[in-house]
Amino acid sequence: MKRTAVVRGLGSWLPPRLVTNHDLAQQLDTSDDWIRSRTGIGARHVITPGVATSDLAVQAGARALKSAAIKGVDAVVLATTTPDYLCPATAPLVSARLGLGNVPAFDVAAVCTGFLYALATAAGLISSEVADCVLVIGADTFSTVLDPQDRSTRAIFGDGAGAVVLASGTADEIGALGPVRLASDGAAAKLIYIPSGGSRDPFRTPTARQADPFFRMEGRAVFRQAVEHMTSSCIAALHDIGWTVDDVDLLVAHQANLRIMHAVTDRLGVPRCRCAVHLDRVGNTAAASIPLALDNATRSGLLLPGHRVLMTAFGGGLTWGACTMRWPDIEPG
Ligand code: COA
Repeated sequence: MKRTAVVRGLGSWLPPRLVTNHDLAQQLDTSDDWIRSRTGIGARHVITPGVATSDLAVQAGARALKSAAIKGVDAVVLATTTPDYLCPATAPLVSARLGLGNVPAFDVAAVCTGFLYALATAAGLISSEVADCVLVIGADTFSTVLDPQDRSTRAIFGDGAGAVVLASGTADEIGALGPVRLASDGAAAKLIYIPSGGSRDPFRTPTARQADPFFRMEGRAVFRQAVEHMTSSCIAALHDIGWTVDDVDLLVAHQANLRIMHAVTDRLGVPRCRCAVHLDRVGNTAAASIPLALDNATRSGLLLPGHRVLMTAFGGGLTWGACTMRWPDIEPG
């Protein structure tokens, strides 16, 4: 039987500091009511000064390795939009701190779809026999790129990390990943972007206009695109594996906004009680969103061994995707 990537371990980490909607309302013209009713978010975890993305990734990665009961892997793939440095990638730093030796380690940049892109990349390393076992991490500290005065983005994003261990197995095992659907549309890149600090507008070059180092997002347009693309990629991923909507035990959508998640759930015809909701306590944690939601659903008993899981995400790029999985019999680390 064809080599297939199978999930063998799961772990996550949230920085301890919690920022509630009430805390935000002390600093910005917003309210708990507004944020809850428009997004479903009540609080988010935020790093303290001196903590970086790799610090969260190391914690999540260590827990995933413990969950898989292994000490080493053959590669590390890390999805992030908020690396510790522009150069080098964050994955080698994480790999070294986890004591994984000289294994290949690299970052994947697909913003909030990053975890699905990293999963597909790791699954490819396994199916092409480059690796037998890969640590896949989604980690982001969006608090480091948000405009302190921008109430629409500060209300949404939180920091966190989640990780899985993928190992070589067969498609009939529980834990096996189905085909991953991925897509992008760079023509709409400026709906979600950070204008300055990259090679298009490096900080070190004096320009006529003021550099803008902050994350910018056209909320309404993003909302519409997210619903449309997550719905269509879910339909494609279900088609690829030969499941119907009724086969789905749990929909784990990128935790962007509860209204977006419910719109996708309703359009697909999945009952809302089968949609994993975690963002009320963590907000949108970008690349960490899906593994954090998987970890939470496993711990709360919503996700059980053998369950059919449909995962989908949407983010800057624009990027989007979906994939299916039979949930394995694992304990989060
Ligand atoms: N508190 C109070 N008012 C706020 C606010 C906040 N936190 N954020 C925005 N507003 C205001 C806006 O300034 C605007 O005021 P105005 O009419 O005086 O200009 C008003 O609310 C309506 O703004 P709009 O952007 O149209 O609101 P919305 O209902 O679309 O909600 C988002 C804004 C950002 C919550 C929503 O568009 C959204 O969630 N979009 C998707 C974002 C997302 O998921 N991104 C990640 C994708 S990976």
